[in-house]
Amino acid sequence: MNVQNSDLAADARARASTAEEGLAIQEEQAKLDSKFATDVAMQNTLLTPRFYTTDFDQLDAIDVSPVRRDWDALIAEMVADPNKGHFKKTEDWDHVDWEGMEPQLKKEFIDFLISSCTAEFSGCVLYKEMKRRGSNKDVTQLFQLMARDEARHAGFINDALREAGVAVNLGFLTQKKKYTFFRPKFIYYATYLSEKIGYARYITIFRHLQAHPEHRFHPIFKWFEEWCNDEFRHGEAFALLMKTDPKLTSGVNVWWIKFFLTAVFATMYVRDHQRPAFHKALGVDPDWYGHEVFRKTSILSEQIFPITLDIDHPAWQPTLEGLSRANVAIAKGKKEGGVAGRLRSWSNQAKAAWCFARLYTIPAHRHELPESTRLEPAY
Ligand SMILES: [Fe+2]
Ligand SMILES: [Fe+2]
Repeated sequence: MNVQNSDLAADARARASTAEEGLAIQEEQAKLDSKFATDVAMQNTLLTPRFYTTDFDQLDAIDVSPVRRDWDALIAEMVADPNKGHFKKTEDWDHVDWEGMEPQLKKEFIDFLISSCTAEFSGCVLYKEMKRRGSNKDVTQLFQLMARDEARHAGFINDALREAGVAVNLGFLTQKKKYTFFRPKFIYYATYLSEKIGYARYITIFRHLQAHPEHRFHPIFKWFEEWCNDEFRHGEAFALLMKTDPKLTSGVNVWWIKFFLTAVFATMYVRDHQRPAFHKALGVDPDWYGHEVFRKTSILSEQIFPITLDIDHPAWQPTLEGLSRANVAIAKGKKEGGVAGRLRSWSNQAKAAWCFARLYTIPAHRHELPESTRLEPAY
């Protein structure tokens, strides 16, 4: 990671005899860090944010008439653009002491920012493509508005990264990152959930830091409240799209919904547990945080999903912990290499698959869907 690069550059800087040499080394360092950041954003593993493509014609064929009233109200809210001026640094943007930041925290926080930036940008790319390919006025208008928001989000995070001498090359990502094809219904489930869980994540951190400002080690967290309202609206839009076709949330599709709920929750849990120093600095126990975010997301998703996962089931938490341990062991085995490393990696992949299957088979809570899906941010 770039901590090592920073050490190297710091050494070199100490040796540099003139200010010019120092400057040249700093520029070199920034290039190194940005290449590193872009490389990280390029990764496609089970845990890293992906870029998606879909059957755009099928999406374009959606008729929103069954939800017209709610649809028009939501679009009007988005057209009014309440966050137009929000994603700009103001005097609230305190100075960040990147040099003085504890190295492990810096490493994990930069990783958090890169991963968030990639996820935001992934939304932007998908939504923009839909807008470009479609001809359905309702659908293209929605996707254009959402692309606008996600571009702002990704750009704002990239601004914050730039202060640390790191930047994700978003143009390069658009061209070179691998795109995963998902059928439209899978895009609905996955994107709806990622928008709602994004809202729950941002608002939970924001409320926690409101109560404990001494843990706010970076100003970007002050921007999370209005930010998460954008994600909330995006989630509302996908709920309405799903509401246009009752088949999407019934029959065999309920099993797909359960699959996506389990996958999204489990991925979040495992990824967050890879950042202990980051959560410690925030003063947040990642187990508490995970449970809180799952709880909020579950309550919200009752607007459109006929089931919620039983996150209080006695097997839920220990199985998540097992999955997280297996994941650490897989990474360790891969790093180790050789026969022993490969064996460790394989056996833990089997363990991880078993844990996932166990989570998936925990009976879900069922409920009736409400008449109208529309919700307002309440946390
Ligand atoms: Fe976003
Ligand atoms: Fe979003």
